[in-house]
This record gives sequence, C-alpha cells and structure tokens, in this order.
Amino acid sequence: MSPNNQNKSPRHILITGGAGFIGSNFVHHWCNKYPDDQVIVLDALTYAGNLNNLASLQERKNFRFVKGNIGDRPLVDQILAEEKIDTIAHFAAESHVDRSILGPDAFIQTNIIGTFTLLEAFRKHYPTLEKGLFLHVSTDEVYGSLNPEDAAFTETTAYAPNSPYSASKASSDHLVRAYFHTYNLPTIITNCSNNYGPYHFPEKLIPLMCINILLGKPLPVYGDGQNVRDWLYVLDHCSALDTVINLGKSGETYNVGGNNEVKNIDLVNMLCDLMDELAPNLPVQPARELITFVKDRPGHDRRYAINSNKLQSELGWNPTVTVEEGLRETVKWYLNNRQWWEVLLSEEYQAYYQKVYE
Ligand code: NAD
Ligand code: DAU
Repeated sequence: MSPNNQNKSPRHILITGGAGFIGSNFVHHWCNKYPDDQVIVLDALTYAGNLNNLASLQERKNFRFVKGNIGDRPLVDQILAEEKIDTIAHFAAESHVDRSILGPDAFIQTNIIGTFTLLEAFRKHYPTLEKGLFLHVSTDEVYGSLNPEDAAFTETTAYAPNSPYSASKASSDHLVRAYFHTYNLPTIITNCSNNYGPYHFPEKLIPLMCINILLGKPLPVYGDGQNVRDWLYVLDHCSALDTVINLGKSGETYNVGGNNEVKNIDLVNMLCDLMDELAPNLPVQPARELITFVKDRPGHDRRYAINSNKLQSELGWNPTVTVEEGLRETVKWYLNNRQWWEVLLSEEYQAYYQKVYE
C-alpha cells in the first residue's frame, strides 16, 4: 500500500480548477476548516472559471491564486517545487456535456492531456515528499446510462462512457489508476453524481432554470423530461472529498452520491414552485408556464444513480442535505446574488446558448 496523506497537517495543497463551481466551493471549505494549510489554486480561468468565486480569500496570507493551464508542465513543476505541494485535489476540467458535443477538442486537451501532465509532474515531484496524495475528482458519467430497473452504479460497474465529455473523464480515470499500479503513486479517484449549489455556472440545468425563471425566458427541457439524475448538494460533495483526503486508501475509488434521484421534469417543477414562493414580482407566474420541451441532447444518458455504500461504511461519510432543502438554499442564493450571474450572461454565453437552443 502506498502511503497517503492521512492526518498530515498543515498540508500544502494544490487545488486545480479552484475558480470553477465545485472547486471554489471546495477551496472555501478547505480554507475554513484548515486555516493553517497552504492553499494554492491553479486555474486557467476559462469561460467557466471566475475569480469572483474566490474574492473573499484573496487577502489571506496562506492562499495563492495562479492563473495557468494544467497542461503547462514547466509551470506545474515550478508550483509543486516552490510550494512544496504534498496534496493535489484535481478538479480542473471541461465539464459541460453539451459543449463536448459541439466541440470535443478542449475536452481531450484538458481532461486527458492535462491530467496526464499533472500526473507526470507529481511522479517526478513525489520522491521529495514523505507522504502525498493525488485526488482525482471524476464523474458517475463514466459508467454510462442506467435503465429504470437497474441497480445504482458501484465502484466495480464497468466503464461505458457515452459522450465526448464522459469518454475524456473515463480516459483520465484510467491514467490515474495506471499511475498507482505502475509507479506506486498515491492516487485516489472519486466518481460523483450531479452537484448543485452556489457558484454553479448558468449553462447547467439548475442555474439555467433559476435564471430563466427570473428573466421570464422559456425553460428548455430536453426530450420527454424523464431522464433521471442523482442530485448531490455541493457542500456534501466537499465534505466527502475532505473525508477521502484524510481517510481514503491509495489506489481506491470511492463513489459519491446524494441519494436524491429525481426526473428532470419533476426537478424543474420544484424550481418553478420555489421561485413562485420566494421571488417577488416574477415576469411570468406561475413559472411552470415557461416550461418548453425541446429537441433532445444527442446520446442523452437516461438515468444515473450512485451507490455510495463504500464511502459510507468504510470512511463514515453520509450526505446530509435533501434535494428539497438544497434546492431551496440554491434558489435563495440565485435570488440574492444577481450581480454574480448577470455578468456571466456574456456575448460568448449568448452565442453558446443560441447554438444549443435556437
Ligand atoms: P467547472 O466547469 O465549473 O469548472 C472547471 C474549472 O476548471 C474552471 O474554473 C476552469 O477555468 C478550470 N479549467 C478548465 N480547463 C483548465 C485547464 N486546462 N487548466 C487549468 N484550469 C482549467 O466544473 P465543475 O462543475 O466545478 O467540475 C469540477 C470537476 O468535477 C470536473 O473534473 C468535473 O468533471 C467533476 N464533476 C463535476 C460534476 C458536476 O455536477 N458539476 C459532477 C461530477 C464530477
Ligand atoms: O453526473 C455528473 C455530471 O453532471 C458531471 O460530470 C458534469 O460535469 C455535469 O455537467 C453534470 O452533467 P449533466 O449532463 O447531467 O448536467 P446538466 O446540468 O447539463 O443536465 C442535467 C440534466 O438536465 C440532463 O439530463 C440534461 C437535462 N437538461 C440540461 C440542460 C442544460 C435539460 O433538460 N435542459 C437543459 O437546458
């Protein structure tokens, strides 16, 4: 068994993709919980990266933001050496399925080649450490699509990715696994279900619906709206990753899920009802009147469901937020943070929106 990072404190942790949705929630979680740790964020600030997500941390003395690409090997080498990094929490990725259908190139570059570059840099750097860990944050989409009667994905479900996005994540998972087996590099993979919560970029289902309700725009539901996702509140995901970093075993995979399977159309109805209740003066009320069924996503996976028994029984983690509680908090967040999302509806975003929806 390779040594991992268990109980080592203070850590020097590199968080890639820390200006994105889950990454920035994780950076806040980590800085609050481990104030003595040295926290370095490496993020290329693509369309999905947003420094406003980290604004409150910029003055912290043991926090440093580096704008850069995970595929830039000299830069990664320099950060690992200079900052004596012992833990990498790797979130950086192209993450949106619809964009991977429009243009897969960036997904191959960042998700596969970028992860490979980080692994190679960590392999060179690891002998300088007493203990270390490479945590690779991945997705349940690598397991493919479930039928309604199928059991939820476990860590031994065969990989069957269906989109360029999930294929690129599957490929990176295989590389991470291989670096443990071949080079004895201490790596852990987590595969989690759909996250939601604060700082979620507007292109994804939940923020897109919240924002369109507030703007009185149609709510585009793909296909028949019967696709199922297993929703995980992002702060529950952060606590799962914290547990895995502290207690997980090198070479292992842990599934992370929210035990909240919901059909898309039911989720959109819940969001409409919450907005009707919480938002003053909506342009269209009841908001359900905005629901519009549109052309399906090509290759649209029908159902995802995660079995997280291993993480629960071996490491003692449990999700704490129900989908009803989490959606209420999320709707309030989008209502109270209009200035955060308004600037993201940029020309680039409008052009993307037109390509997918119009
Ligand atoms: P996101 O798209 O919101 O953020 C990705 C971040 O990575 C952005 O800040 C972006 O600027 C940065 N980035 C992109 N390419 C980069 C590069 N080449 N170099 C450096 N930084 C780069 O993504 P997210 O939703 O926060 O997802 C984070 C991770 O979690 C991803 O690996 C994703 O596959 C995985 N994941 C996400 C979900 C989900 O529901 N969002 C579920 C399961 C797994
Ligand atoms: O399962 C984990 C994955 O969850 C992550 O790996 C991805 O990074 C993340 O983007 C997410 O992928 P999905 O494709 O499931 O999420 P998205 O929010 O794009 O869509 C959720 C569901 O809603 C899906 O069935 C497609 C549907 N949908 C989505 C959008 C954007 C619609 O019906 N209409 C929409 O406009």
